[in-house]
Amino acid sequence: MKEFISDKLQNMPISIFSTISKLALEHNAVNLGQGFPDFNGPEWIFDFALQAMKEGKNQYAPSYGILTLKKAIANYQKKYYDIDYDLSEVIVTAGATEALYDTFSAFINKGDEVILFEPYYDSYHSNIQLAGGIPKYVTLHKPDFAFDYAELESAITPNTKIIVLNNPHNPTGKVYSQEELNFIATLVVKYDLMVISDEVYEFLTYDGASHIPFASLPGMREKTVTISSSGKTFGFTGWKIGYALAKPEWIEAIHGIHQWTTFAVNTPGQHAMANAFDKLEEYLPDFRKLYQNKLNLMIDGLQQTNFNFFKPKGSYFIMAEFPNTFTDDQDAAIRLIKEYGVATIPPSVFYSKSDEGKTLLRLCFAKQDSTLLSGIDKLKSVK
Ligand SMILES: Cc1ncc(COP(=O)(O)O)c(C=O)c1O
Repeated sequence: MKEFISDKLQNMPISIFSTISKLALEHNAVNLGQGFPDFNGPEWIFDFALQAMKEGKNQYAPSYGILTLKKAIANYQKKYYDIDYDLSEVIVTAGATEALYDTFSAFINKGDEVILFEPYYDSYHSNIQLAGGIPKYVTLHKPDFAFDYAELESAITPNTKIIVLNNPHNPTGKVYSQEELNFIATLVVKYDLMVISDEVYEFLTYDGASHIPFASLPGMREKTVTISSSGKTFGFTGWKIGYALAKPEWIEAIHGIHQWTTFAVNTPGQHAMANAFDKLEEYLPDFRKLYQNKLNLMIDGLQQTNFNFFKPKGSYFIMAEFPNTFTDDQDAAIRLIKEYGVATIPPSVFYSKSDEGKTLLRLCFAKQDSTLLSGIDKLKSVK
């Protein structure tokens, strides 16, 4: 019999998020698993979308994205990070997810090696595999999820092309320090590498931590593709409006894939987000306060449980060690849903080299306070 399905899909895992969400639904569990808010972004953004639709902005957008959105993105990069991008250095994509896929596809040749810090956001791994690349792993170790500088340098070979950075980091909540970023930049120069820097949680940092974009380091703007998402910044993950920033030749390469995948991103959503980014300065203080309060609520709650958590400096995730009544993270995640009614993510699927993930669970706190309180209540009963 002929095999119709492509070899590319051999060994391609089902995303853990689909598995856990399905189980959570079946057991009506409080969902602290999947990484998106269970509440709306600001209502004034709806009005911008509706206005755009009523004004007839409903047909295909330009393939690279509408001008006003590209301008608004370049403006905030200048204002917050002092990085200058012109309009040929921005592309709008269907979420950061598409930007990642396009970028990995555009830069990886068969056999190219790509360095991933683990735990990694799982789409990087699958994208590298789909593009024919070879992932190499460097572990971020608890409690502070630091990496060993020698381990990183020794992972580099003559075939290494890319280092993938996710900062602030999902799932650990790590925010890379200036010193760590400087070290990575040194290696980029020494070994002639590029960096794909996923910064979707750029505005979610806590307790005085601040986000340093990799492209803001001296010399790194020309070596970096920065990827981010209006879905995370404005709390509309379902609108799927992301973007990539890089030098013009690299944006053209990313567009080479984008033109044959989505071609153009939904038009009214882009108009709404262009207006939203123009109001970023007014919006951010409340957004940051909202999430700082949610983090504080989670920390207070977790302190009353038998889970030993690692306080995040960024993102909307917390990693926590579970009590030893469970054998590993998969057992803990499944039994927490079935027996205690709370869904979390077992992070061992985000590790390829280290076993550290087997002792941990990832909790998402982008949830209504009532959801968080009810989740915490269930976790308190775990002995
Ligand atoms: C690190 C990271 N990158 C990218 C994405 C995907 O972003 P988008 O929803 O814009 O596709 C996510 C979503 O959870 C994420 O956590």
